[in-house]
Amino acid sequence: MDRSQTAARLLQSSAAHSYDPDVEIDWDAPLVPGRWFVPQHRSSLHGTPLWDGLSPEQRLTLTKHEVASIAGLGVWFETILMQLLIREYYKQDPTTAHAQYALTEVADECRHSVMFGRMIAKLDCPVYRVGPFDQRLGTFIAATATGPRMYAAILIAEEILDALQREAAADESVQPLVRMVSRIHVIEEARHVRYAREELARQVRAAGRRRLGYDRLIIARAAYLTGRRLIAPGVYASVGIDPQTGARAARSNPGHRETLRWAGAKVVAYLRELDLIGGPGLVLWRRSGLLGDQ
Ligand SMILES: [Fe+2]
Ligand SMILES: [Fe+2]
Repeated sequence: MDRSQTAARLLQSSAAHSYDPDVEIDWDAPLVPGRWFVPQHRSSLHGTPLWDGLSPEQRLTLTKHEVASIAGLGVWFETILMQLLIREYYKQDPTTAHAQYALTEVADECRHSVMFGRMIAKLDCPVYRVGPFDQRLGTFIAATATGPRMYAAILIAEEILDALQREAAADESVQPLVRMVSRIHVIEEARHVRYAREELARQVRAAGRRRLGYDRLIIARAAYLTGRRLIAPGVYASVGIDPQTGARAARSNPGHRETLRWAGAKVVAYLRELDLIGGPGLVLWRRSGLLGDQ
């Protein structure tokens, strides 16, 4: 299917399935006591001695901060993505479906970032941010990235969030607020994933595989960041665990490693198919946890 056909379909789907979180979500409803904020088995410390040492209330608190961390990373990626899409749109013919779809995706991400921001506030959690190096890198990427590295980085974040949120949306042990936020995001992101996958394949063909060395490195850095910062070390302080101790325990926790591998499996397979994983960036991929082989 060519670019404009895909865009026309995605525009139709956007018209039929778009959600306004202000209307769809009852922001005044109280949180439900005893429900998880991420499914219990997805908590980064689940199954570790540190987890065993937490009270039932602390375990719930930890998952609350974990979902806030995931949402914080989501907002960060979305804010970069909106800038990238606007820059692409700027060069395009506004009468084409492709250009209009790019703008429609910006509108989706606008609503998502407001929704995630409201959720973090409602959960009364801090905004977990990436470190200063990645903040600067994000500013640089937002201002300059084009082509395969742009779409691949987006795809990594979107597909990993998609796997986690699909599961959370279906899990009755999870807070209704988190399930609803996840459901809205999953439905709308399905379009974004489709768009990014097709666009990425096109861009790789256009660039020629041998010219993709720099892209592979940037993509690896995005993978590393997503795997490592999905759960910000700061979340552990919410239950009295030293952030570095908690982060180390999570990294060596077989359950958490399996979560990262599972959440990354689809996008890793796709990027491998396009030969975008390899070269000097491979070490970052390994350390991201998304390959599941180390
Ligand atoms: Fe989004
Ligand atoms: Fe998206």
